[in-house]
Amino acid sequence: MQFSWISVAALVICISNISALQCMTCGWSQSIDECDASGHLKECMSNQDSCETTVRRNGNNVLVSKACKDRIACRSNQLQNARYAGMSTQCNSDQHNSVCTCCCNKDMCNIGSLSCVGKNQVAEYAAQDCPVVSTSLPHGKIDCNKDNRSGSVCKYQCTGKDYSLWPKERENNICLGNGSWAHKKPCCARPCPPYYLVDIAMLIHFTGENAEHLLKTTLEDTATFAVIAEDGVKISTLYHNENPVESSLIKFNEYGENATLLLELMLERIKISNKGPVNTGKAMRYALDNMLIPEAGMRDSRVEGGLDIYINTNPDDDVKGPADEARRRGIQVYVFGFEIGDFKFDRKKLLDIAGKEEHIFVFDTDLINLSEQDIEELSGHFCQNPCDHVLHDHE
Ligand SMILES: *[C@@H]1O[C@H](CO)[C@@H](O)[C@H](O)[C@H]1NC(C)=O
Ligand SMILES: *[C@@H]1O[C@H](CO)[C@@H](O)[C@H](O)[C@H]1NC(C)=O
Ligand SMILES: *[C@@H]1O[C@H](CO)[C@@H](O)[C@H](O)[C@H]1NC(C)=O
Ligand SMILES: *[C@@H]1O[C@H](CO)[C@@H](O)[C@H](O)[C@H]1NC(C)=O
Repeated sequence: MQFSWISVAALVICISNISALQCMTCGWSQSIDECDASGHLKECMSNQDSCETTVRRNGNNVLVSKACKDRIACRSNQLQNARYAGMSTQCNSDQHNSVCTCCCNKDMCNIGSLSCVGKNQVAEYAAQDCPVVSTSLPHGKIDCNKDNRSGSVCKYQCTGKDYSLWPKERENNICLGNGSWAHKKPCCARPCPPYYLVDIAMLIHFTGENAEHLLKTTLEDTATFAVIAEDGVKISTLYHNENPVESSLIKFNEYGENATLLLELMLERIKISNKGPVNTGKAMRYALDNMLIPEAGMRDSRVEGGLDIYINTNPDDDVKGPADEARRRGIQVYVFGFEIGDFKFDRKKLLDIAGKEEHIFVFDTDLINLSEQDIEELSGHFCQNPCDHVLHDHE
């Protein structure tokens, strides 16, 4: 007798070492469905080789819990179902109180209703199928172990480069006995940042001895700041002094998704050339008329528009008029200002451009060093609910 107990235990340990049992686990819930919906699949410890479901009923109030359990302990709880209690047994459908326990030993086997006793012990309905899940998950895949049948577990996985599940913790879904899926279907999404969705017109003016250096670092930063893509960021650039310098113009539709090409074009076309006053307002008007338009490759109204002003000196003309017009068109206006050495910006002028403090980013070195708060500000405008990305084929 003793010998056989040892060999059973040894066998069990051997089996469970191969791969841990997976059980649905939940704390006390008010129904089987609520337990399955709010619980999670757990890898059991090596000494836990059963999945246990316990249903306590007190009148019409039901409490359900599910857990990993030692097989012998679970078995002995299950044996109590038939123990004499009151007029019938401990697990019953004819008394005010009832306690039922069921054990099973396969992965995910304790999903759904009690498997070892009649349904009416739980005051339940017949299990229903769930609506068919589409087997396609854009940029990923779905595997369900029982299709759309009650108790089926679907696992979601993202396969596209840079794509991951959103919401993050929704790796699997369960068809509850009441005919509903436990969760809304997740999607495969790319993180934002850096996958912003925005068309940005960049207006640049740098002056002084560090102008060349500032230009170079700004252009390099811009081309690497976000992912340039037809469903990501597109950039159009223009240098200005007294006038918009048209030979420096790069339109949204000139480089496809090729960030290397964009940087090449920027370095080739954008040159420091300063004379006369700095008419940033005039350049902004030019951007509204010639850059932020469909003919220049701006995408449709589902994509946000941005107007970013890169300067290290105070503009000389009226900037408020064109900035307000941009805002009226739904375009977000930002200032990236470099305040190096003794130079100080006229803050009112920056505010005229940006419209609010949160849209003013001022750096005291020649590096664009955005704080977490700045990034949050940008994300608030240019990131979307990733499952709802307007240019993606999410369902
Ligand atoms: C099924 O049960 C879950 C969890 O208790 C609940 O959220 C959902 O609304 C129920 N669905 C139906 C159709 O009753
Ligand atoms: C479950 O799938 C089957 C087979 O695809 C289908 O006939 C049935 O209508 C589905 N159930 C529900 C509730 O959609
Ligand atoms: C991107 O542009 C660079 C520079 O013009 C070019 O060498 C490269 O082949 C392009 N890449 C793609 C994928 O077209
Ligand atoms: C960027 O700014 C943060 C504070 O906002 C600072 O701690 C960090 O050193 C800066 N990084 C560089 C490269 O200047």
